[in-house]
Amino acid sequence: MTELKNDRFLKALLREPVDRTPIWMMRQAGRYLPEYRASRATAGSFMDLCMNADFACEVTMQPLERYPLDAAILFSDILTIPDAMDLGLYFETGEGPKFKKVVRTEADVEALPVVNTARDLSYVTKAVSTIRRELNGRVPLIGFSGSPWTLATYMVEGGSSKDFRHVKAMMYGQPEVMHQMLHKLALSVIDYLNGQIKAGAQAVQIFDTWGGVLSHSAYQEFSLKYMQQIVDGLIREHEGRRVPVILFTKGAGQWLESMANTGCDALGIDWTTDIGGARSRVGDKVALQGNMDPSVLYAKPERIREEVGNILASYGKGTGQIFNLGHGIHQFADPEHAKAFIEAVVELSPQYHK
Ligand code: CP3
Repeated sequence: MTELKNDRFLKALLREPVDRTPIWMMRQAGRYLPEYRASRATAGSFMDLCMNADFACEVTMQPLERYPLDAAILFSDILTIPDAMDLGLYFETGEGPKFKKVVRTEADVEALPVVNTARDLSYVTKAVSTIRRELNGRVPLIGFSGSPWTLATYMVEGGSSKDFRHVKAMMYGQPEVMHQMLHKLALSVIDYLNGQIKAGAQAVQIFDTWGGVLSHSAYQEFSLKYMQQIVDGLIREHEGRRVPVILFTKGAGQWLESMANTGCDALGIDWTTDIGGARSRVGDKVALQGNMDPSVLYAKPERIREEVGNILASYGKGTGQIFNLGHGIHQFADPEHAKAFIEAVVELSPQYHK
């Protein structure tokens, strides 16, 4: 086991003292980086990058070569699970993800297999162990999965959606069928994340990108309940260290208390929630990750720095914050602006930890 040289990300997740606020960016390896676009062209496609451990490792490392980031995130996608359930994932340029088969009926749900990671997703666990070896203790590696609800939206709609027509029709019209699907997804996610942890992921994040489109009660019943099952089913200690779990529901500002009660270690919050207000609501139960609007990166470096200062001041003194964007970095963001963002956190945050 190599010693971790920079563990301020893991420490902040557990609300232990740190010298400055750690930072990483959702989608930090991606299309805004010219070197990523070059690797994708060499590999052939986005899924070719994901399915080849050496390519996945190469692009995971790219943002770390440019910026003083405190964590690496596995290069993969949340839609590997529905792909492993035989739905046939493909990407069409400019149109986002699509599936050859959609899940619309009770029979479709009954036919869905529960994923066996060792059998169906070994390319992901292989990428995790390859990246861990390459990192050699430089920073911790984050593993991830989609939430059952968010995965279900893609599987029922057949791709991205604006109105969630089919998946909401199933949820309100055939709730038992929806629950059966979410149950299979929760079992799959537990197996998948535990596979990533055993392969070397040192923290895990559950992306619930579409939980925020649900009503108050539907969120508890169809999204949070299954994230709770996952939190309960995960390996929480590995290699002699706690493996922190981060829950990120986009648009969940009003549900932070119930999310914090799941027993997770941290909540990811988007920019619509004030981080200082969130901190006083969750107290010392969980750490908070976020939450600058990714669109701030379209502004000049001075404006970016000002926004970083505002968020640090809102959170205030002490540990328990992990700086991040409130959602993934946009593909049109300028890499120099991302640099200004990260450097502002490195420079402005130490005063909050004295
Ligand atoms: O954060 C990281 O750097 C790790 C990699 C990562 C990707 N996707 C790479 C990716 C992570 C954590 C994800 C998660 C993901 N994938 C989510 C949840 C996070 C979120 O943004 O809310 C969702 C909803 C997906 C599904 C998905 N995959 C979409 C909607 C898209 C974009 C399609 C498009 O054309 O805009 C993808 C593709 C994808 N996943 C890309 C990357 C870098 C771009 C693919 C490319 O290179 O063309």
